[in-house]
Amino acid sequence: MHSTVLSPALVVGLIFELQNVGAHADTRTSAVGRMAPPAAAPQYAAAAANPAHEHGGAAEFQIPKVMAMEHEELHADLARVIAAGGKTGEAAKKVAAVLDPHFANENSYALPPLGLLAPLSEGKFDCGMVGVLKMTNKLAASMPEMLAEHKEISAALARLDAAAKAENNTEGLRFAETLTAHAAGEEEVTYRTALLIGLYVKDKSAGCPH
Ligand SMILES: [Fe+2]
Ligand SMILES: [Fe+2]
Repeated sequence: MHSTVLSPALVVGLIFELQNVGAHADTRTSAVGRMAPPAAAPQYAAAAANPAHEHGGAAEFQIPKVMAMEHEELHADLARVIAAGGKTGEAAKKVAAVLDPHFANENSYALPPLGLLAPLSEGKFDCGMVGVLKMTNKLAASMPEMLAEHKEISAALARLDAAAKAENNTEGLRFAETLTAHAAGEEEVTYRTALLIGLYVKDKSAGCPH
């Protein structure tokens, strides 16, 4: 079972901080307010090999390892179901046709912003983080398409599930279940967290040079 690991407490904490940035911008009495003033030099730019690089615009922001692994594992699982053949394999190919471009979009702009969760949750902000807004703005504008793609994937998964049931293909059944849970986690937590990071960074960047 692949699961998206994002602590609800962290998300709630970010929301709380976001509210407090506005409320205490002048008094600097909130946890955010006690942070050092924004520095110009990014400290998180040591990106290693990252699928986001292939899609441009995300070089400084690394997809959290656990999330990159989840996509890689889903990809490998699907390849195995396809390779096993039969009607299940055929249905799995159709899943791949809609899933691959969707994963590419996610790796390009939906997941790299989450690389800022660690520094932001430790109270670290610098003006180099403003570059993330390009991705979070793109995600915000693309939400209808992203959710429509999930619907397409879900329809392809329903056909995969039916074929796997008919052929008693446990790997196909498990994949359909796992990818369904993955998409639900993205809709409820992952995309929302990336959007929240965008709002937070935008708020924090008020004092940064333009
Ligand atoms: Fe995904
Ligand atoms: Fe997705």
